[in-house]
Amino acid sequence: MVERRGLRPFLKWVGGKRQLLPVLRRFYPNTHGAYFEPFLGSGAVFFDLLDQGLLDGHAVTLSDDNADLIGCYARVGDSLDAVLAALDSLAAGHGEGGRDHYLQVRDTRFNPARAVWRDAGSDITTYPAELAAMLIYLNRTGYNGLFRLNSTGEYNVPPGRYDRPRIVDRLLLELASRTFTLPDVRVQVAGFQRVLDDALADDFVYFDPPYAPLSATANFRGYTGRGFGDAEQERLQQVLIALATRGVKVLLSNSTAPAVIRLYEGNAAVGVAGLRTWRFPARRAVNSKADRRGPVEELVVSNIRPAPSLPSTWQSRASASNTAPRGPGRRSRLAPSR
Ligand SMILES: C[S@@+](CC[C@H](N)C(=O)[O-])C[C@H]1O[C@@H](n2cnc3c(N)ncnc32)[C@H](O)[C@@H]1O
Repeated sequence: MVERRGLRPFLKWVGGKRQLLPVLRRFYPNTHGAYFEPFLGSGAVFFDLLDQGLLDGHAVTLSDDNADLIGCYARVGDSLDAVLAALDSLAAGHGEGGRDHYLQVRDTRFNPARAVWRDAGSDITTYPAELAAMLIYLNRTGYNGLFRLNSTGEYNVPPGRYDRPRIVDRLLLELASRTFTLPDVRVQVAGFQRVLDDALADDFVYFDPPYAPLSATANFRGYTGRGFGDAEQERLQQVLIALATRGVKVLLSNSTAPAVIRLYEGNAAVGVAGLRTWRFPARRAVNSKADRRGPVEELVVSNIRPAPSLPSTWQSRASASNTAPRGPGRRSRLAPSR
């Protein structure tokens, strides 16, 4: 596979899971077949698995329904020189123009070029290298790794506040480029349900959907303008149950929004499928108000037995039936998952 030298995402992404890796690693299975990651984003878990050699010899399917993101990965894979040349020039422009340069690139170059590409059918194979470079530039210098479109489909993320943003990480991009051109690695635009068509018993699937808002006021709705509401969360639960029943090793990280908790904790079908749930503390930075980014809990659902040395802050709750223990007062320490 590729050289391993601290492989990690080259994009910042809302909901990126770098901070949660110490927790998620406990669930990486000892053995598995193919690997699927249907909510790829910046791919924190994918790059981590790769870096640890855990994907060597395994077929990998990475997908996301954000066509710009996948188009960017495709060009980093097959046209890295062109991407880097454009990115170097953007970085130089940013050095001189800063925030004004960001806005000018976003409004007079990125959005118009995107519109042309979209009008031509949004084919990933024709996503221009210049667009890929602009996406990386806007991502590295824009607000908090957000990818947000307005109602007419234009990218409208405001500039971020960084003194010296690292725009071109050549080594990381070279490593990622080699990754995306590996014969066993497929990167595609797809809705998460596609994994149902492909994953077989013993394969490993990691799901990291957009978070449901934790409260009615936290109305962050998503990444591409379409949002990921209760209906999608329900469909996702069904996909998890179907895969687990098939013997696929699944791992889901999700928010502890009430609508999500209802779908998993104490849910009979979830328990029958052999899935268990855990909650653990996490920091989340989606809220624009820094004082509302405090510690929150994260939900993990999996049929993989986690490694034993979990942080003592972990809590476990059974999902085997509707009568499973509920409520903060009755949480137990982590127990074997089956
Ligand atoms: C929480 S982010 C994933 C973050 C990722 N784990 C990381 O470390 O960067 C969720 C991703 O799901 C994608 N997404 C949203 N709705 C989707 C859907 N219906 N099917 C597939 N991907 C979707 C978004 O574009 C976004 O990249």
